[in-house]
Amino acid sequence: MCGIVGYTGQKQAYPILIDGLKKLEYRGYDSAGVALHLGNHLAVYKKQGKVAALKEYAGDHPVASTTGIGHTRWATHGEPSDRNAHPHYSASGNIAMIHNGIIENYAQLKDELVSKGYTFNSDTDSEVLLNFIEDIKRNNECSLEEAVRVALKRVTGAYVILLIDTEHPDTIIAARKGSPLVIGVGKGEHFLGSDASPMLAYTKEVVYINDYELAIVRPDELILKNLGNERITPFVQKLDLELAAIEKGNYDHFMLKEIHEQPKTILDSLRGRLNAEQGYITLSGLNKIEEKLRNANRIVIVACGTSWHAGLIGEYLIEELCRLNVEVEYASEFRYRNPIISPQDVIIAISQSGETADTLVALENAKKQGAAIFGIVNVVGSSIARITDAGAYTHAGPEIGVASTKAFTAQVAVLQLFALKLAQLRGTIGDSLFQHLLHELEAIPAKVEWILDNQVEAIKAIARRYRDADNFLYLGRGYNFPIALEGALKLKEITYIHAEGYPAAEMKHGPIALVDEKLPVVFVATKDIYHEKIVSNIQEINARKGKVVAVVSEGDETVNELAEAVMVVPQAHEIVAPLLSVIPLQLLAYYIGVERDLDVDKPRNLAKSVTVE
Ligand code: M6R
Repeated sequence: MCGIVGYTGQKQAYPILIDGLKKLEYRGYDSAGVALHLGNHLAVYKKQGKVAALKEYAGDHPVASTTGIGHTRWATHGEPSDRNAHPHYSASGNIAMIHNGIIENYAQLKDELVSKGYTFNSDTDSEVLLNFIEDIKRNNECSLEEAVRVALKRVTGAYVILLIDTEHPDTIIAARKGSPLVIGVGKGEHFLGSDASPMLAYTKEVVYINDYELAIVRPDELILKNLGNERITPFVQKLDLELAAIEKGNYDHFMLKEIHEQPKTILDSLRGRLNAEQGYITLSGLNKIEEKLRNANRIVIVACGTSWHAGLIGEYLIEELCRLNVEVEYASEFRYRNPIISPQDVIIAISQSGETADTLVALENAKKQGAAIFGIVNVVGSSIARITDAGAYTHAGPEIGVASTKAFTAQVAVLQLFALKLAQLRGTIGDSLFQHLLHELEAIPAKVEWILDNQVEAIKAIARRYRDADNFLYLGRGYNFPIALEGALKLKEITYIHAEGYPAAEMKHGPIALVDEKLPVVFVATKDIYHEKIVSNIQEINARKGKVVAVVSEGDETVNELAEAVMVVPQAHEIVAPLLSVIPLQLLAYYIGVERDLDVDKPRNLAKSVTVE
């Protein structure tokens, strides 16, 4: 939800800001803008649309400046437009500000300002906050830093703000609550970003800013304070991330690169944790809450979107293998519906970004009620990772395509390790099944590789065949039901084709009315205990002239004969099979998106990380 960048140092700021904004575009692409310091005044360039539109508008090097801030927007208050684009000028024109987040009490602050005669050039909550800060600065005759501190004590909501003003040519003031902010430390220069990607080419030394902290950033100085004006020593960390990890390489899109990375990322999520040869799993995060887990009444999994689908697979795994009651909750519902939580509950939070606002607040609420929190998170050091009591990183590396692919399979792999380890601790799994499943899991990366080596051409042909469909239905049973949901979500996000995921048997209770000779129905029909049942469901669709496309297990001729087209995956135990059956569905969505000539990495209206509720 909005990307922010900043630079102060000896280099030209504009190219660094533009490059940083391109790296952060996955966070929002409704408009982009920069503000640059020009000695005694500020220059703002901003444009509706992607960063490329800003660059075309402002040119390659509009002015010389070594201090500036930049923003790429995912619209909340006010439509995507030039006037609502950030940065905003304050009423006097002496301060420019960018903002990521939502100021919840902006209407009240705006009324106060309007009664004092302020007028506004945008519909944004951000411009209200900026003028509120300027008003305090003027009335209190204080510094900008002091005015920011006073203003933020009155603000409710979430924010990262960066400000520059005419009085301090090389200074950026930054503050955060509820949205991420990283500061990169260079030699005689500092970089600011929503994540570390804008600074990775220049430095690997970074400081993660915490909620309610305020930073005064100059080329040679980084001062960190809390809102009580007390100094805090910045904790400088070394990034373990290479530039190549955030670049597309030879792939046309990040989504395709990330789909193809999955043999490696699944392996990375298992590395050092799964030892099939010697027959054990090490999951140090789980050990930290072992007692809690042994005595838990139930596990509640909270997540959103694709991570919620991974959670559903987690529910099936933990209930089957550990004989422990599991509920899977949409974080947005869980946080508001006053759920019953006890200290005997263990909450598992699943999140790629670790910044999803609803998941974060749901966890804070559960924590207050005494539940233990276990995080399955991809982004190291993210807010969710930091508030959990224990956890396991998914180690999928940076995921930049807005549609989640490799993060999903890494989440599922970690859930499989978690369920197997917990089953062993609780004594609910026999040794031979345990050993067998370790080998099955170990074999997954090579099987994913096989799909990517052998199925892409077939899937491209299917994409060409069905690219003009208006609707799709995705059906699966058991572990493949969440995969049907995930396949439908991927298609919706990337191709804008309406798609529904359903448990295959539930189809007869309504969705079957949609079936006609134009409707593609994608069955996830791998060989498992439901196979005969799902074959019957396929017959039912065929009888109504629907177009059956199926994900099938290698060597399964039954479905081959009933479907118009098939996508083949290697045979695997049903507990690990979702890691295979999802791959063709990711590819199908990707190639239909390409066929429809869409920007698959930046689907309309979406943002990678949803830091507003
Ligand atoms: O970062 P998170 O995993 O918490 O994000 C949750 C969802 O916003 C995310 O999975 C979203 O549904 C993706 N666009 C799916 O591809």
